[in-house]
This record gives sequence, C-alpha cells and structure tokens, in this order.
Amino acid sequence: MDKPRLFDNHGRIINYLRLAVTDRCNLRCFYCMPEEGIDYVDKDDLMTYEEMERLIRVLVDMGIEKVRITGGEPFVRKDMMPFLQQLSQIEGLKKINITTNGTLTAGLVPELKKMGIHSVNLSLDSLDRDRFFQITRRDVFDKVMQTLEALLEEKIEVKINAVVMEGKNMEDLFLLAEMSRTRPVGIRFIEEMPFNGAGAQSPRLFWDHRQILTYLRAHYPDLEKVQDPPFSTSQNYRIPGAAGTIGIIAAYSRTFCGTCNRIRITPQGMLKTCLYDAGVFNVRDLLRNEATDAQLHDAFLSALGSRAKNGFEAEQRRWENPVGESMSTIGG
Ligand code: 5AD
Ligand code: SF4
Repeated sequence: MDKPRLFDNHGRIINYLRLAVTDRCNLRCFYCMPEEGIDYVDKDDLMTYEEMERLIRVLVDMGIEKVRITGGEPFVRKDMMPFLQQLSQIEGLKKINITTNGTLTAGLVPELKKMGIHSVNLSLDSLDRDRFFQITRRDVFDKVMQTLEALLEEKIEVKINAVVMEGKNMEDLFLLAEMSRTRPVGIRFIEEMPFNGAGAQSPRLFWDHRQILTYLRAHYPDLEKVQDPPFSTSQNYRIPGAAGTIGIIAAYSRTFCGTCNRIRITPQGMLKTCLYDAGVFNVRDLLRNEATDAQLHDAFLSALGSRAKNGFEAEQRRWENPVGESMSTIGG
C-alpha cells in the first residue's frame, strides 16, 4: 500500500509533529520563563503517555513520519525513557528526535542510542559558565557539556540551539562557531521570539537573521553557504574545512513558512498548526471523549484545511490573544 501523505490547504506536505510532553523545566532561561517560573499546567490536564502514543499512531497512519519530543524539559517528566521506548516501536515512524536542555540526560545517552533516537537538539546559549548561569539562572553548565560529549561519543546527530541576545551572549557566537571547526555539530543561532511567559517584550536590541549573518561574516569572511536540508528552518553555512555547520534560524522574521511541514501539540493536547497561532482544537478532549480514529482523522484534516499561510497570518488571527506565553508551554 502507498504511504499516506498529508497536505494542508496551501499544498504543503505535513509529515512532522512536534510534541511537547511537559511545560515544566528545571532551568529558567530568561527569554523563556520569568525567574519565579510560570503557572504550570495541572498534572491531570497533561496528556497521559497512553494518550500521546495513540495520537502519534493515528498521525503516523495519516502521514506523519517524524516526531520531535520537546517541552519544557522532556526529561523532567517521570518515565520519559519507557515512553520513548514505546514510540521507538511504532511502525512507520521513521525518526524520533528530542529537544532538551541536556542537564538530566548525560547518563541516558547510550540507552537513547539503543532506541534508535536519530538526533538531539541541545539548548546551549553560552560556552562560558558565568554567562550560562546569567541566562539560565541555574549552575548546571557542566551537566550540559557532559551530555554533549556523550552524544558525540554515541554518534547521535547533535544540533546546538543558541538564542542570540544582545548584551548576553554575543561573544558566544564566535565560541560556538569555533566549536563547529572541530566537532561535527550543527550550531544554530536563533532570533529571539517574544515567547517568554511574561508577555512584555524586553527593550533590548533585537538581532535579526541578516544582522546575525553580517556579524558572523565580519569575523569569518570566508564562511561558505552549504545546501539546506529539505524543510530546513535554518540557513546553513560552514567555515571552510570545518567538521560542523553554522545555521541561522529566522524564528521571528519567519522566512521559512512556505515549506512548513510541521504541526505542534502542547502538553495539554492543544493542536497548533503554527507556532504563532493560539491553538486550533484540543486533541486530549477528543481522546477523553472516546473519539474513534476516524473522528480524529476528520478533526486533523479539518484543522489542516484552514491553516494560516504563514506565521504572520497566524499571529494576526489571534489579535485578541497576543503572543506572550512561554515557549515551554508551546513546545519550542
Ligand atoms: N526565542 C527564541 N527561541 C526560544 N527558545 C525558547 N524560548 C525562546 C524564545 N523566546 C528555544 C530554545 C530552545 C528551544 C526549545 O526553543 O533555545 O532550544
Ligand atoms: Fe527550560 Fe528550554 Fe525554557 Fe530554558 S528555554 S527554561 S531550558 S524550556
């Protein structure tokens, strides 16, 4: 039988689910959460592992091929490893990737490898312990570095996500870029977005993707463009001869919506067809109301049939409900 394929109303293929398994986190990155944390979702409102697994099976039947497990910090949720093990058994699910802050993961890496976890994105905004502490408000830099080493050791693909923040980590752009010379990692510099759980935007200077590239090029005049993988959200470059690559993600400028192949599900089961939308319908409620697979299919098809054409349209549609929630409740 032919593999099913899923499309939205703009003809974009949809084959990628980002599932946030918790909104909790053991760090307090200032661009994501206020110091005191956010009002966490009640445990009963979180989707259970059984619900998430059913959901993924249904979506894989419809054409989803890749799932990214994100949060919050996925590994603060109890029994995360058995859940990943279950997912690794789902037929038709080709790739399971994880986004993590890497603070709780170092000892788990060999097991992740055994499960066939394809790729891990590490959130690491600084290679300097003090600046790491300033940004995350927690003193766990060494743990993250241990995870990085373990991932490289096990040859799991690693990407490092660094949000670019004036006055906070500009020196780290070069330290991270230097790391790409000798280590086979994809360093990705991300435009800061207003998802900080506090609503208000900070008045700091905002670095857009063009400025980030100009800044890097001033230091590395011979930076070469490399071919971007299909559906890539990053524009990718390489220092000549380097083992790894350097990418820039225009997360706020939203230059990549034309090929967006992804949907998101929040820890409470809200389906988002765009990072910038307010949520289309609650999948968890359907599951708890004993929806059949066919009813779930219809609900997803209908959501994908009226998807905003880009992140600006999605944001406009939520004018009465402006963007301001924490990235940890959306799923980075
Ligand atoms: N702007 C840009 N990126 C963010 N992330 C979290 N909050 C923000 C924000 N306000 C990124 C982190 C992490 C991923 C899950 O989301 O860098 O790697
Ligand atoms: Fe936690 Fe990631 Fe948010 Fe930092 S950015 S507080 S690591 S969820």
